[in-house]
Amino acid sequence: MQYKVIIPAAGMGKRMGYGRNKLFIPIRNVPIVVHTMTIFEKDEWCDEIILVINEKEREEIERHIKTYGITKVGKIINGGRERQQSVFAGLETVEGDEEIVLIHDGARPMVKIPHIHQLVVEASREGAAVLGVPVKDTIKKVQNGIVMETIDRAMLWAIQTPQAFRLSVIKSAHELAERDRFLGTDDASLVERIGKKVKIIEGDYENIKITTKEDLLFAESLLLKKE
Ligand code: CTP
Ligand code: MG
Repeated sequence: MQYKVIIPAAGMGKRMGYGRNKLFIPIRNVPIVVHTMTIFEKDEWCDEIILVINEKEREEIERHIKTYGITKVGKIINGGRERQQSVFAGLETVEGDEEIVLIHDGARPMVKIPHIHQLVVEASREGAAVLGVPVKDTIKKVQNGIVMETIDRAMLWAIQTPQAFRLSVIKSAHELAERDRFLGTDDASLVERIGKKVKIIEGDYENIKITTKEDLLFAESLLLKKE
């Protein structure tokens, strides 16, 4: 089975406090965004990587693509202010309603190919599938420092990327979100709000999004293990 992946990489990485886009931080001497692209470079099912970047970082990213021998990057396009706008810009460059498109954060360099394949299979059956893990902590709803409610953990999942879609499904979801000025925290939420089913594939806890400094240590130890 074949798919294309859109990798949003146009963020500022504010929570990391690195002073610039966190995706350029080296882990085991290789920039985070290169680790992420390499997974798709190696996956035979992936026929194109669409990279969404900040225009100011174009030269640097093109240099890394060359240095690390990434051959599948078909397009490098400019992102927007919000992640959702960056993904939308990527989607606009893809054609073919029946195509399977994955959306995967540049900041998740630990995703595994078997999980990617499960997503692709499920998305071609159902239209939309996302990776997630059961929540480990107890989650409470809090208002003004007071607990309002403890939410039944059995029903809670932490959602990751990749998120996989039939192109027609995710394109119309993004178009309608844009029309309604709706900003979601992930791509699947845009599909949910138009009443479409989203399947969950159980992934693992290693597929973290590198967001704050602590995440770097965990990612480094996992990548070391992989080597
Ligand atoms: N992203 C993007 N365009 C944006 C914002 C984010 O392409 N306008 C990308 C990031 O580069 C990252 C992914 O979306 O690969 C997930 O976003 P996040 O982890 O929040 O990264 P940042 O937005 O860069 O970090 P922060 O929120 O801490 O500023
Ligand atoms: Mg962000």
